[in-house]
This record gives sequence, C-alpha cells and structure tokens, in this order.
Amino acid sequence: MTYNSIGLNTSKTKDLANDLNYLLANFQIYYQNLRGIHWNIKGKRFFDLHVKFEELYTDANVKVDEIAERILTLGETPLHTFEDYSAKAQVKVGKNISEDDKAVRLIVDSLTELLKIERSILEKSDDANDEGTNSMMSDFITEQEKTIWMMTAWLDE
Ligand SMILES: [Fe+2]
Repeated sequence: MTYNSIGLNTSKTKDLANDLNYLLANFQIYYQNLRGIHWNIKGKRFFDLHVKFEELYTDANVKVDEIAERILTLGETPLHTFEDYSAKAQVKVGKNISEDDKAVRLIVDSLTELLKIERSILEKSDDANDEGTNSMMSDFITEQEKTIWMMTAWLDE
C-alpha cells in the first residue's frame, strides 16, 4: 500500500477525490437552481423568499469552494466547467420556476440528492481515515438536514 504526503492511502484518496468531484458537480447544479429561483420567484412572498434564496446560494457558494479545495488538498483537480457539471450531475435542473411551492420543493429535492452523495462519502472517508473529508461531510449533512426540516415545515401549511 502506498501513502501520499498527507498520510492517506493513495488509491482510496483518488477514489474519494473522484466522489468529491461528483458532489461538486451536483452542488453547482443546486447553486444554479437557487440563483434561478432567487431571480424568478413571483407572488406575495417575493421579498421573504428572494432574500432566503440568496442566503442559501451564498452558503452553497462557500461549500462549493470548500469541496473544490478539499479535492486539491487530496492531490486531484476539481471540475470547473459547466460542461463537466452538466454531464455528471444527477440533481434535477429547475427551469423557469416562479411559484413559491415549486421553488421550495426544488430545494428539498436537490438537498435530498446531495445528502445521498454526502452519506456515501462520509462512509468511504471513514474507511480511508480521511478525517478532513469526513468532518466536512458531517457538517454539510447536519446543516442540510436542518434546512430540509425548515423547508418541509414551510411547505406544510
Ligand atoms: Fe440578487
């Protein structure tokens, strides 16, 4: 077995970086979904939702950067083109969504997909003793579960 300069198994690290690139691609679709609903939302709740969606995309933007820089820390290259993101991602693309319920549902659906990927990376990073990636996934999961709770509460009226 070979180990890299940060003391992690080389092949497991490469595999994890690949999964993180998959997460990155999906996160970029989620981010763009949020931009879309921030711009296109209509109705009497415009002011609340417009601001809420901005708060979420600002947070997603920070996480995108953290994922990309983790990939670099693991010695690999983060995906950085729209072409790659579209080709790889599974998160559903939201287009022309202006209704509040549909917008919030899009957030829940996107986060549900991201959580699946993060749980898989959580497990693999644990097996690889990759504490940096593991704790990042753990933080993302906790925050996103809470956001899903709040969005689901909002939808239940
Ligand atoms: Fe704006």
